[in-house]
Amino acid sequence: MTDVPIVLATWNHGVPATERALAELTRGATAVDAAERGVMVVEADCPDRSVGLQGWPDRDGIVTLDAAIMDDTGRSGAVACVRGVAHPIALARRVMDRTPHALIVGPGAEDFARAEGLFTGTRPLDAVQDAAWKDWLRERQYRPRANSENHDTIGMLVRDATARLAASCTTSGLAWKMHGRVGDSPLVGAGLFVDPKAGAAVCTGLGEVVMRKLTSCIAVERMRAGASPAQACREALQRLIESGPLDANVQVGLIVLARDGTHAAGALQRGFTYALGTPGGVALHEAIAVA
Ligand code: GLY
Repeated sequence: MTDVPIVLATWNHGVPATERALAELTRGATAVDAAERGVMVVEADCPDRSVGLQGWPDRDGIVTLDAAIMDDTGRSGAVACVRGVAHPIALARRVMDRTPHALIVGPGAEDFARAEGLFTGTRPLDAVQDAAWKDWLRERQYRPRANSENHDTIGMLVRDATARLAASCTTSGLAWKMHGRVGDSPLVGAGLFVDPKAGAAVCTGLGEVVMRKLTSCIAVERMRAGASPAQACREALQRLIESGPLDANVQVGLIVLARDGTHAAGALQRGFTYALGTPGGVALHEAIAVA
């Protein structure tokens, strides 16, 4: 089956990531290769400081990264709380391709990165990270803010020209988190999910909310039961709201891609942007808010 490729990715930084993924698809990359290489653009350069080694540190001044990748054969790989790895998505891919495991964390993941030639070394905070961390230390208050600190996670969904699906996400997690904290991004079913028959979904936002409700899995399962991507997106987000009152600062964004290429995006609140790419070009959109 030959078809038109489609890529979706979270936030404004989804635009360069989507452009890269589409270029990879044009060169003949598979969906999972494009999903890996697309998000690497943001790992290397993230002006929002929410992805990669330039991300905001935890409250101890340490940058730790989470990433995951999944294809439509049910394979997945993930790493969490890893230091000194410029491209954690590539490490997650190696977990998927070269180990019998689904998730490797902390020092074990760093050892694996060394063995795979992907350990780029721990380094001091740069001047911007250091100044922001010292500023935060003055009050030591942890208050997530919708659409600002939570500009986290580059999440991507890819459908290639043969209708194969893949999903990826990578993040430095919430700024000023407790050391060792892991969010939804490396957790299959929470941060991302792919089903060969139904489609795929990726979440961004406050991981603690998403990982308690498995929002990506719910969206895909709703499509499996016959819902359109827009209905699936709305219902998965509605489940977050039904679970109890959410703080006004909690944001969760969700992008959904059905096996047939139809797609949707939604968020708890306004302000969640996402990139949509086809061979005709890449455009930035704002998702509809359900709350
Ligand atoms: N959604 C990413 C995180 O909470 O770490």
